[in-house]
Amino acid sequence: MKNKTIWSNRFKNKTSLSFQKIGSSIHIDKRLYEQDIAASIVHTQMLMKQKIIGTKDGTKIIDGLKKIKSLIDKGNFEFKDKFEDIHLNVEKKLFEIIGPSAGFLHTARSRNDQVVTDFKLWIKNASKEILKDITLVMKSIIKKAEKNTDTVMPGLTHLKNAQPISFAHYLLSYYEMLKRDKNRFENNIKLLDECPLGSAALSGTSYKIDRNYTSKKLGFKKPTANSMDAVSDRDFAIDFLYASAVCAMHLSRLAEDFIIYNSDAFNLISFNDSMLTGSSIMPQKKNPDPAELIRGKVGINYGKLNAMLTIMKGLPMSYFKDMQDDKELVFDGHDTLKNTLTLSAELINSVKPNKGIMLLMANKGYTTATDFADYLVKVKKLSFRESYTISSKLVNFAEKNKKMLSDLTLEEIKKIYKDLDRSVLKVFDVKNSMNLKKSYGGTSESNVKSMIKKYKKESK
Ligand code: ARG
Repeated sequence: MKNKTIWSNRFKNKTSLSFQKIGSSIHIDKRLYEQDIAASIVHTQMLMKQKIIGTKDGTKIIDGLKKIKSLIDKGNFEFKDKFEDIHLNVEKKLFEIIGPSAGFLHTARSRNDQVVTDFKLWIKNASKEILKDITLVMKSIIKKAEKNTDTVMPGLTHLKNAQPISFAHYLLSYYEMLKRDKNRFENNIKLLDECPLGSAALSGTSYKIDRNYTSKKLGFKKPTANSMDAVSDRDFAIDFLYASAVCAMHLSRLAEDFIIYNSDAFNLISFNDSMLTGSSIMPQKKNPDPAELIRGKVGINYGKLNAMLTIMKGLPMSYFKDMQDDKELVFDGHDTLKNTLTLSAELINSVKPNKGIMLLMANKGYTTATDFADYLVKVKKLSFRESYTISSKLVNFAEKNKKMLSDLTLEEIKKIYKDLDRSVLKVFDVKNSMNLKKSYGGTSESNVKSMIKKYKKESK
């Protein structure tokens, strides 16, 4: 019996070895052992409380399960492919340790409700851990932003110099993205918070089980309401993979910005050497490999999400083995995102803005042309469209004379629009331009400072 599968009595032939190769998931789902054992213990407690099984057997089962947990904790458990998955590996071992009493454990449940219960518990916990990792990245952003509220750089659209902004304001845009990521993971936790245990194979059970008890003891808000939905629902895995994909996409965008800013053509930022690698042939090279990997890893996260959605597409009610691959996808997606988040926090900490070049670049590309138009609207009471035309003429003049707008003299500016005094010159100062952007959410130093105050409070 020891080496036989649970269902061997009904089978004339041994399971195909080539099926075992892809059908066995123990090398993946052994990661669920804590959740599996915790759920089995609670299930047993409920069966005893409801007098569905005797206290003697129940107590033996619980002791045995605890022993198995400590064996696995210590690395002294031999996982066996022929027992397919974590659920059967644990049950088989329980027989070995406590004998026939182990046969009472699987009363009023199925692997179908077992696996989804374990998996929900795992994802709930992993989501909470990811929230902490995201918070770390957010904190590294705040720290870097705090030191750079008056570091002027060119804000870009279409990768062309657009308007002056602060490096802090730029960095904090990613804070907002990550905040939404946190919301996504938090919402997912709320959405998955229903306990499937007791749905059994697909139709529920005739035993007088107490599903509120198991649900509560396992930390769920309530039991799932439809046994068929419960065993075939993998929305929570998709939600997790989607939130991970979006978060990884945000980090990929940040990494791409940094790669561009660090390029020799831009040279706006430098990295600490710990975030650079050398070349095997070109002695001079310092390459931003960590940033490039953060940029690329999102491909893995997209891939896992896509695979999961495809597995679920058109799957009839209710449980099918197709779903077994859900765990590998989620574990991989999770591990990838977790590593990417940790590395991103380090990368952000290691960034040094090249302030001189940032300032020079902020002046290039006529980035205060809009400010000049705004000045004409405010001081000369012209319409914005008229001012826009005058300002574009000034840009043409500066371009023709190979000057930056801030290099122009009052006399030169007056060639384009006569009725002006010295007060106009300030308009072409990039820092002044930045600090005039006081509209809520704008880049002015005062705005950004008060945002940082708020962010510091909320990310504690
Ligand atoms: N290892 C399986 C999975 O992850 C557990 C459920 C198996 N149920 C079944 N009827 N074959 O999906």
